[in-house]
This record gives sequence, structure tokens and C-alpha cells, in this order.
Amino acid sequence: MKKIIECMEAVIKDAFTASGYDEKFARVNVSNRPDLCEYQCNGAMAAAKTYKKAPIMIANDVVGKIKESKIFSQAEAVNPGFINLKLNPEFLASYLNDMQADENLSAEKAESPKTIIIDYGGPNVAKPLHVGHLRSAIIGESLKRMGRFLGHRVIGDVHLGDWGLQMGLIITELKKRSPELVYFDQTYEGEYPAEAPFTVSELEEIYPTASGRSKEDEAYKNEALEATLELQQGRRGYRALWKHIMEVSVADLKKNYEKLHVDFDLWKGEADADPYIPDMVAYLKDKGYAYPDQGALVVDVKEESDAKEIPPCMILKSDGASLYNTTDLATIVQRMEDYHPDEMIYVVDKRQELHFIQVFRCAKKAKLTEDDTQLAFVGFGTMNGKDGKPFKTREGGVMRLERLISEINEEMYKKIVENRSVKGDDAKKTAEMVGISAIKYGDLSNQASKDYVFDVERFTSFEGNTGPYILYTIVRIKSILERYREEGKNPEEGKMLPAANASEKALMLELSRFNSVIAPAFEEKAPHKICSYIYDLANAFNSFYHETKILSSENEVQKTSWIRLLVLARDVLETCIDLLGFEAPERM
Ligand code: ARG
Repeated sequence: MKKIIECMEAVIKDAFTASGYDEKFARVNVSNRPDLCEYQCNGAMAAAKTYKKAPIMIANDVVGKIKESKIFSQAEAVNPGFINLKLNPEFLASYLNDMQADENLSAEKAESPKTIIIDYGGPNVAKPLHVGHLRSAIIGESLKRMGRFLGHRVIGDVHLGDWGLQMGLIITELKKRSPELVYFDQTYEGEYPAEAPFTVSELEEIYPTASGRSKEDEAYKNEALEATLELQQGRRGYRALWKHIMEVSVADLKKNYEKLHVDFDLWKGEADADPYIPDMVAYLKDKGYAYPDQGALVVDVKEESDAKEIPPCMILKSDGASLYNTTDLATIVQRMEDYHPDEMIYVVDKRQELHFIQVFRCAKKAKLTEDDTQLAFVGFGTMNGKDGKPFKTREGGVMRLERLISEINEEMYKKIVENRSVKGDDAKKTAEMVGISAIKYGDLSNQASKDYVFDVERFTSFEGNTGPYILYTIVRIKSILERYREEGKNPEEGKMLPAANASEKALMLELSRFNSVIAPAFEEKAPHKICSYIYDLANAFNSFYHETKILSSENEVQKTSWIRLLVLARDVLETCIDLLGFEAPERM
């Protein structure tokens, strides 16, 4: 469906042309003086220079030509040359009726759908999920949903960190503890046991112990590095251990992501890129992109316009081991082969920006992608505590994701029980739903690249710019619709009439903006734009609600129209929160 601004611009364009002016001046914007008008066109000001005329004369000419248009109830030229516009309530109502009938609620599907891979989540196997991975999961999931809503083919890949030193550390620590395990016997040629020699909680203890020891003990660290290299080079026993670590760890990760309503199409990781490395390295060398530098293999990626020095991209270390760069480049090769994507989007901590500059430049320079394959880095800021430092537990330790989620859920549970609207098991489920909205909205309502303060009290509040406030608004709408149903009527039938009062019109105007918000939000990879839209929309709804006696109205036709407006508001709000990655309960 055409955007409502485009409908207005079409009329204004005709008016400019009919008055002898270029239609390029016919731009319409949301008014910055809502007390005077809803929309405005400032084109007469710009046209004045071209036509050497007073802007007000041009504005008057144009207004003279739009007087009869059915779209506007008011079109006024005001000094020095603004054109102030108000939408005709009839037109607005018919626009919203069309919107309700549209399968995508007026949002247009992409004309040429793209294949897009979103690389997000990025947890490291064997290390517990911590809040640092929360942002990637939340932002990536939202971008994936937005892309799909707009008709793109979006593939979400968790891209596990499963090939690095942490694997060597775990292997080393296991060897110290149980050297008798068959995995360490190099002469062993039989099958390895199906069962892992550790549980997930043991694993979670083993890694930090090993990591701590390696920081104090040089020899231990070297052993771990050696084990990492041997694993990567294919030592049988280590590969078998690696598989165990993966199984145990991935099952646990899946459980956690499920709780967050985050799900991935691909559970690939750095290790999956490994088979692509030898050929890629040979190619980079053959074509002269990579050259040896102090024993290592590197590709130059600096550009003349660089303000600061961009160091070469290291492909292999001097001992031949692959690096984070190597697996990321090989993953690009793998993705091009498997999916031939038009775009790859990486949702990663912004402190990794340099890494991605190097990787992207290297991929482009060496033609590992097509020339027009887009590689995008969505770098996000840190989630801080109230002290402005990275979010920690009350005791000052690293906050595990599981714990954060359960703390939020408890907080929500208390509030919901206080409200006494839902009880028992239902209250638990509701608390979980509202808890997710608190976490996700709290995160997504900030521009991704900025650091933000994770404020439990504020995020879980039912008032203000929060997830629970949005859900509360939706639940309010649903409960009115429920009561309407109890009157034996069907809220899904009937039409919206022109607005009966100012707050109703304001709500209608907000609803009509939906399709002008979603596509640009995706284009700019900016879920926060959806948040600010639904916050405005929820506010507009609540003002309307407080001023209007909906169910007790005696005028049945009017009542039906308001119910239809509520249905549309519910649909738009629920669509938007789905794009953000959470949902609303029936009651709360
Ligand atoms: N595992 C990495 C980390 O925890 C993030 C992975 C991001 N994705 C990528 N393709 N490099 O830092």
C-alpha cells in the first residue's frame, strides 16, 4: 500500500505542476507544529529561489489548486510560505480500513527480495552465556524478523565460537585430571565412547579453572595452545573430545536461547569453516593477495583514505594455526558456496569493529564474495549497570544470562501477583512473557551502537517507555475486545468511521504511519525506530482510551467503529512487538 505521505505528495505534486512549478518541490513532512497542522510542505520556500518569487505567492498558488482535493480537510498558505495541511478524516478512515484489509497491514514487501545471512548470538562453546551475548541475540533476532516481514529470505546463523583456545584449555585441563582417558592415548584406534566424560556443570567449572591456570602458568598455557593446534590439525582423540564438548554445550545453549525466544536456522560455527581453510589459503597465496611476514601469512588491507592505521589481516600464525580472521573469511567462502547471499550482517560487540574492517576488506580485495555482496557490521555498545560499568551480579561477578532472566522474571512475578489479575501457574507464565519484553525492549529501545544502562526497576515498570507498558496497553485493548465479545458481538466485523474527536484522530494518524516506519527501520538496521513508534502509538491509544467511553456508548455504529480502531491498534502493536521478538499475554 502507498504510504500516506505519498498519497498526499501525489496531490501536492499535481498542484505544483498545475501552477507551473516543478513537482520536485512537493515534499510533505510530519508537522513540527502539531498545534497548527498535521503535515506540512515547505517546498514553496525552496521554489522561491528558482522562480524568483515570494514564497507566500507560490504557496498561495499551490493551495489554490488543492482546495478541492478529498485528501485534505485543510490546506493553508501561511507566512512566510509554509503550506499547512490537515488530513480529511474521511480519507484517513478509508486509509485505515484498507490497511486493516491488507495482509501485511499496509507494509510493502521488498520488490526484489534478498537472501540475507544474519550472523548473531555468537556464543562461545563451553563458556556459559553471559550478558555480553544478550545484545547480539536480541538485536539479531529482531533484524531477522524485520527482514522476513518485508519479504526477504533471511537465514540466522549462530556462528558458535568453537574452534579457539577455549577448546585447547578444556582438553588440557581434562588431561591433567584424567590422563588415563582413552582420548589421550595416541595409539588408540578403536571407537570412542558415545557418552561425554563430563556433564554441563562440570564443563562450566573446567573452563574457568583452566583459563585461570593458563594466566598464571606459562607452560600450561603453551600446552593449551599446542592442544588447540593439534585439535585443528585433526588429532583423533581431541576431535572426539571436541564433539563431546559441543554436544553438551550446544544442548544447554539451545535451552537458553529458547527462553529468550531467539532461534537460529543454522547452528554452524568456526569449526565448520575449517575444511575451507586450506583451499582458501592456497588461493590467497597463488593470487598474490597473501604474503609471508615474519613467518605469518598476511593480507594488506589498508587504504589511502584511512585516518588511522589499519594493520594487515593475519591469515595464519607463524606456527600455521588459524585465527579468528581465518575462520571468519573461510565462513564467508562457505556461505557464498551454500547460499550465495546478497548480504551478510554481523551483529557483534562494537569493540570488534577493527576485526570486521580487516575481514571485510580482505574478502572484497581477494574477491571471496561478489562485488556487490554487502557485508555489514552492526556493532553494539555495552550493557552497563547503574554504576556505568559493565553489568555485573550484586556480588560483582560476571552476570550469567540465566540468572539475569530469572531475576527479571521474579521481579515481574511480584508485580503481577500484586496486581492480582492472574494467579498461580498463569502468573508464572505471564511473568515470563512480560519479563522478556522488559529485557528486550529495554535493550532495543536504545540505538544499538550506544552503551546503555540496564536498569531493572525502570525496565520492569508498567509506566514509561518500557516493554511492560507496551504489553499493558495491548492487554487493555484485548480486554475491551473480550468484553465486546461477551456482549455477543464480533470485533472482527465492521468499518472504521471518520474520527469523532481529536484524540481519536491522533490515534488514527499514528496508525497510518506504520508502513513508513518498518521498511526504513530495517534498511537502517534500527529496531529502536520500531520501539519509538510503538511508544508513540501506545501513548496515542491511552489518551484516546481515557477520553472515550467505548463500551458504554449508546451509538452502536460509533461503537463498532471504535472497536474496529482497537482491533487495528492491537494488530499493529502485536505485529511490531513480534518484530522486536516478544509477545503479549491475554491478561496481566
Ligand atoms: N564468538 C565471538 C565472541 O564471543 C563472536 C562471534 C561473532 N561472529 C563472527 N562471525 N565473528 O566474541
